[in-house]
Amino acid sequence: MKLNLPAVFTGLVFATFVCQTPAAEPETVWLSSLDLTPIVQGWGQPQADKSVTGKPLSIGGKRFERGLGTHTDSIIRLQLNGGAEKFSAFVGVDDAATSDQATLSFRIIGDSKVLWRARGVKRGQPPRKVEVDLKGVKMLLLLADSRGSINFGHANWADAKFLVTGARPVIVGAPKEEAVILTPKPPRTPRINGARIFGVRPGHPFLFTIPATGDRPMTFAVDNLPAGLTVDSKTGQIQGRIEKPGTYRVTFRASNLLGDTWRPFKIVCGDTLALTPHMGWNSWYVWENHVTDKIMREAADAMVSSGMINHGYQYVNIDDCWSAKPGATDPTLIGEPRDEWGAVNSNPRFPNMKALTDYIHSKGLKAGIYTSPGPLTCAGHIGAYQHEAIDAQRFAEWGYDFLKYDWCSYRTVATNPSLTQLQWPYRAMGDLLRKQGRDIVLNLCQYGMGKVWEWGKEVGGHSWRTAGDLGGSFYGIPSALFRDGFDVYSGNELHKHGGPGGWNDPDYLLLGYLSNWKGQTVPTPLTPNEQYTHFSLWCLVAAPLIFSGDITRLDDFTLNILCNDEVIEVDQDPLGKPGRRVAIDGDLEVWARDMEDGSKAVGLFNRGEEPATVVAKWAELGLEGKRIVRDLWRQKDLGSCEGEFKAEVPRHGVVLVRLRAK
Ligand code: GAL
Repeated sequence: MKLNLPAVFTGLVFATFVCQTPAAEPETVWLSSLDLTPIVQGWGQPQADKSVTGKPLSIGGKRFERGLGTHTDSIIRLQLNGGAEKFSAFVGVDDAATSDQATLSFRIIGDSKVLWRARGVKRGQPPRKVEVDLKGVKMLLLLADSRGSINFGHANWADAKFLVTGARPVIVGAPKEEAVILTPKPPRTPRINGARIFGVRPGHPFLFTIPATGDRPMTFAVDNLPAGLTVDSKTGQIQGRIEKPGTYRVTFRASNLLGDTWRPFKIVCGDTLALTPHMGWNSWYVWENHVTDKIMREAADAMVSSGMINHGYQYVNIDDCWSAKPGATDPTLIGEPRDEWGAVNSNPRFPNMKALTDYIHSKGLKAGIYTSPGPLTCAGHIGAYQHEAIDAQRFAEWGYDFLKYDWCSYRTVATNPSLTQLQWPYRAMGDLLRKQGRDIVLNLCQYGMGKVWEWGKEVGGHSWRTAGDLGGSFYGIPSALFRDGFDVYSGNELHKHGGPGGWNDPDYLLLGYLSNWKGQTVPTPLTPNEQYTHFSLWCLVAAPLIFSGDITRLDDFTLNILCNDEVIEVDQDPLGKPGRRVAIDGDLEVWARDMEDGSKAVGLFNRGEEPATVVAKWAELGLEGKRIVRDLWRQKDLGSCEGEFKAEVPRHGVVLVRLRAK
């Protein structure tokens, strides 16, 4: 009998011996004992055997010695490779969360199948028991999401453990995705892109550069240009002043050695600016407090050399940190904060603001600046408090075309603001800017307080941030793209308030290379599909398209996202009607936007962790009959559909289409 032989004799004998050993005792592996580094979550760090705030784990008054404290939205992706038998835990909101406003859902997905879920989980409820059979499961996802705001989404997986007989579970990161460029390059023949309408006030300096792709040299002309304007035939820059209010229908023309083209355009000389959402670049998410005159000039150069200007990008905007910083020791941040008349001075990093805006304007672009109604800006630099009028005048004299007006230290002025107090600084600045001799677009940055979308336009704003900083909450969590600013405060309501002259602003396009707050520039944490989602969603909701990554370091993939003219056309549609979510089924969402020509732009989104089929139903879109479907990212017709259009959408991805009657 083989069994009687000593195990050391031969390999074969040894193998036989092992085969006949009784099955190994299942081992308990605690979730919190694994390497937690790959976990992504909406706030803070996952905590082993503690709540996300570092307190003992506690749900509904019951304490747990072991478990994992996370914060919504969190994704724990575990590779099991069939080695685990069972997972068990108690889930709930940690008792130490200081508010019970969060409503959580927990989900367990094994190889694309939902194995367990709990919805409507709130603080104070008893822990919910989880027990799932994992036999044969290779990939397991433990997900915790918040409905509405992620605030106080302290999601506990208490007492969480695996019963393991084979390989131990390993927490892994998101699957790698290839950055696929979906959009064909623009033709070498001329093509006019971007907005089809532009607003200007009578008698104010006019600057608009015709955005056109195609080989250079290119020759530009405009038919029926109103009196007071001229076009530079080499650059396409239209300049001058229109004295007489009115709507001027003009025709832009562009030609090169390979062909020519034309496109109708409307100039509306009246009181309304920002007839389409602003397009441009802002320094904040890449340069933060390192911004300088040189960086801004290089940004303007790059907007031209990268070709972004040919797709309609216009504004080159400095964010915080250009004025003096009280108490700073860095000599480039100090200096007299104000001049002898009280007007704000720039710090030594910006030696000559007028020369800077002249430079930006010479490229056919517009210049933007930032301040706060409080004594200090968010980064502690001089703000406009009690100097609003003289500062507004100074911005105009310097030649700025855009002002972002933050909130920050205004909290020290209005500690518990009423609606009137919330509105006051913006109304005051809106009035002041209107009195200047040039058009200055006003962006309100107070994070959505007091439902700013309901009154932002009335107080003189041309766009208003709808929520806090996107960069602070979205890292690795694409659901933040959908939530921040879109339904955090008012359900799916914001679309009712944006429109020509005033737009909902869910913050900047976080693409390309961004600062990681340690002063290093790192690639956006969004996967390629999440980047398509980000840009598509911004266009569907008519958000300003302000890129805030490193504009001097644009790779082909980032440019492909930023510069697809058919997608930008959705954002810049002259009807100016923001889209909205028309259907939601778990992680699958359909968003739609009415276009001026009667067509509809429709985004089929998959927020889920696995590819899925998303269906856009005519009934939900308010359509009947046949529609021609054009894939906007691929710029390709997909044929015609009736009743519905469905597409396979990758994890966290989108299929963006335009549906036309013919
Ligand atoms: C924040 C604002 C950011 C950025 C920053 C500058 O309040 O939301 O977009 O401007 O201030 O300090």
